[in-house]
Amino acid sequence: MSTPVNVVVTGAAGQIGYALLFRIASGAMLGPDTPVNLRLLEIPQAVKAAEGTAMELNDCAFPLLANIDIYDDATKAFDGANIGLLVGARPRGPGMERADLLEANGAIFKPQGEAINAGAADDIKVLVVGNPANTNALIAQANAPDVPKERFTAMTRLDHNRAIAQLAEKTGATVSDITNMAIWGNHSPTMFPDLYNAKVKGQNAFEAVGSDLDWYRETYQPTVGKRGAAIIDARGASSAASAASAAIDHIHDWVLGTPEGDWVSMAIPSDGSYGVAEGIISSFPVTCSGGEYSIVQGLEIPEFAQEKIDATVAELVGERDAVKGLGLVG
Ligand code: NAD
Ligand code: LMR
Repeated sequence: MSTPVNVVVTGAAGQIGYALLFRIASGAMLGPDTPVNLRLLEIPQAVKAAEGTAMELNDCAFPLLANIDIYDDATKAFDGANIGLLVGARPRGPGMERADLLEANGAIFKPQGEAINAGAADDIKVLVVGNPANTNALIAQANAPDVPKERFTAMTRLDHNRAIAQLAEKTGATVSDITNMAIWGNHSPTMFPDLYNAKVKGQNAFEAVGSDLDWYRETYQPTVGKRGAAIIDARGASSAASAASAAIDHIHDWVLGTPEGDWVSMAIPSDGSYGVAEGIISSFPVTCSGGEYSIVQGLEIPEFAQEKIDATVAELVGERDAVKGLGLVG
């Protein structure tokens, strides 16, 4: 057995935290040979609930769970952290404007970025799940100037998995028949699921849906893009188990690699590829190997896709400018 990996989960007492921690401890995220130290970060009022979750984690007697610590102090929680899952965030409240939401989240992700900068391990990898995830990741990154920028990522894997599931349903294929899916842009209804480069049993996915641009535009893209709202409507609470599962997938593939010939979607700092504004945290198709990711290059982007990618990127640029205006990023 190797040395345990220090995994910080913020918002550990929340609903995603509850679905996530047990799967991390079972080995689903880092594999069957890697023990973990779980560090649960919460606000002081939720520490007791986190203690309850820790009791249950102990009661599972997971062989890979080396230790659990609970914190209400980000600096202590991130000291020596190898992986940070930033789940806790401020939801939009009644009468809250977008700028208020960004500012409230700045109050969470700025100090967490600073804490990561101050004490995280050299190999720290960060996944931001808490919404607005892409821009929260940008805030954390901007406040951790000594950490390589590419270590800050945001989650669009749930959108990716939703896009696969919807395509499987439409084509009658199984999810494992579908490869090379990609989500471009923001984790918001503007994100763009790419059927032009995806495959169903090796066949081009757009052709597999009969090259039906109306269905793509009017049904598929909005169904995937608004799935989060549909879940909230049905459940009375936002997605939790599926979000946790996507977070497991994201870190699993980043650390352990993507399958040969396939790729996944991760929101990562743009290097300007495909005309996406440099520096914003935008979703791209990526392959992972040796703990690093690379953007898949050379994909064909037809006009409809380019329009949609431009729109979702413009939304991210707007969010970046708003947090710049609030002094949360430089
Ligand atoms: P939740 O309200 O059940 O839990 C959030 C937890 O975060 C709470 O326990 C709260 O006490 C804690 N928290 C708040 N501020 C904190 C701080 N500064 N430090 C540590 N903990 C803090 O919410 P949830 O359902 O678990 O969702 C969490 C976030 O994930 C939300 O922002 C949600 O919108 C987002 N989300 C993202 C995706 C995605 O695909 N990116 C999917 C689903 C949900
Ligand atoms: C989701 O995609 O399920 C969530 O981001 C929705 C939300 O607003 O929490």
